[in-house]
Amino acid sequence: MSNNVSAHGMWSSRWVFILAATGSAVGIGNIWKFPYVAGENGGGAFVLVYLACIALIGIPVMMSEIMIGRHGRQSPINTMLAVARDSGRSSLWSLIGWMGVVAGFLILSYYSVIAGWAMAYIPYSMSGMFTDASPEAIGNIFNNLVGNVWLLLMWHTIFMGVVIFVIARGVQNGLEKAVKLLMPALFILLFAMVVYAAFATGQFAAGLKFLFTPDFGKLFYPDGTNFSGQGVLTAMGLAFFSLSIGMGAIMMYGAYLPKGASVSSTAITIAGADSLVAILAGMAIFPIVFANGLSPGQGPGLVFQTLPIAFGQMPGGAFWGALFFLLLVFAAWTSAFSLLEPVVAWLVENRGMKRSVTAFLCGGATWLLGLLTVFSFNIWADVRPLGFLTDTVFAGQTFFDFIDYVTQNVMLPIGGLFIVMFAAWFIARGIRDEELDVTNEPLMFNIWLFLVRYVAPVGIILVTLNAIGLFA
Ligand code: PHE
Repeated sequence: MSNNVSAHGMWSSRWVFILAATGSAVGIGNIWKFPYVAGENGGGAFVLVYLACIALIGIPVMMSEIMIGRHGRQSPINTMLAVARDSGRSSLWSLIGWMGVVAGFLILSYYSVIAGWAMAYIPYSMSGMFTDASPEAIGNIFNNLVGNVWLLLMWHTIFMGVVIFVIARGVQNGLEKAVKLLMPALFILLFAMVVYAAFATGQFAAGLKFLFTPDFGKLFYPDGTNFSGQGVLTAMGLAFFSLSIGMGAIMMYGAYLPKGASVSSTAITIAGADSLVAILAGMAIFPIVFANGLSPGQGPGLVFQTLPIAFGQMPGGAFWGALFFLLLVFAAWTSAFSLLEPVVAWLVENRGMKRSVTAFLCGGATWLLGLLTVFSFNIWADVRPLGFLTDTVFAGQTFFDFIDYVTQNVMLPIGGLFIVMFAAWFIARGIRDEELDVTNEPLMFNIWLFLVRYVAPVGIILVTLNAIGLFA
């Protein structure tokens, strides 16, 4: 196959790729997950480690994915096969693509359920339910939603339905149109929320202090006495999750990137936008937390129990709240597409299946898997599938907790580790030099090479060993 175009279509420009990849990166991971996970892990120190992971591990992994994807021009499985072959390496490297497909299924299965919560909040907000409501009343609205199996099922179904529809239509018709307008709109609204938090809560300083003053004791000794490396692993995993790396989503999008666009500046732009959105979400949320006597460590409901308080008090809040959750849902969609696209593209390539049929089957399977997450918040809230593994992190986890933990903290980092190892030591030099344009960008190239050879792999391994308790 020619190396200049992909069979599935192409982005019309580098700028569209940046939007689409940012669309993949920016999602409920930034606005729902980052604040609550940072809150659970004590704030500042966690945020610092998270940002360090983005810069030192995330960006190099992302550049590697884009580079490999653009050379292979197919789904991650076939791209890895092709690039390994062109480099004279074993076809076993395509296992990276396979693991990514599994990770994508697992992540999308719960992602769709949580995005469903955001969908539910659009009509809630419009109806004026949050107007002047107390923090307790808003907490109850959230608890009633997640406690209701049928409501969750309905929103989960609608969310997945749209994902299937867009993926069925293909890259240019579906994906491109969706991201062009919505990403900038979300950004502006989020910024407005930070301005609100700064002027209306009286707790802006406390929020900033929580987010930006590192207290490593809180990260390493969460209960005050016993050492734990889990917080650092979570920060690294979240960096992977938030950037959509380690599972082939960015590799897939890289396959549609026109030749000639600079990989390094593209990756830096995407990572910068992604971190900024996460930090802005934190800056909007924590002042509200402190102003209302809520706990930063309250878990997955954090965003859904804080922002509505603000919407309930501001003029026109019913409208702004609805708009905010609408944009959040769109951000979730643009991420969800990239979770499903790799496997759909693979089936189209290898089985000659129709895109629409493939999208429906894969989306349907993911929907089914999502029931585990739906039930984790109500009828199976007390079920601990791995409860027998006493004294491990798994013992206390629901199905949702487990799927989330394994994908984010195990599968994505392992995927990332193999991707950087391949890019650093195994890919043909010619491919690497051409894709990263060593002639025109020698400095960026050398920084990247140093990071993928030494810093990223050693970092991933050390953080993981630390979490297993090897250095305790
Ligand atoms: N980055 C997305 C988010 O933050 C989630 C995602 C993970 C998307 C992995 C694709 C691949 O919401």
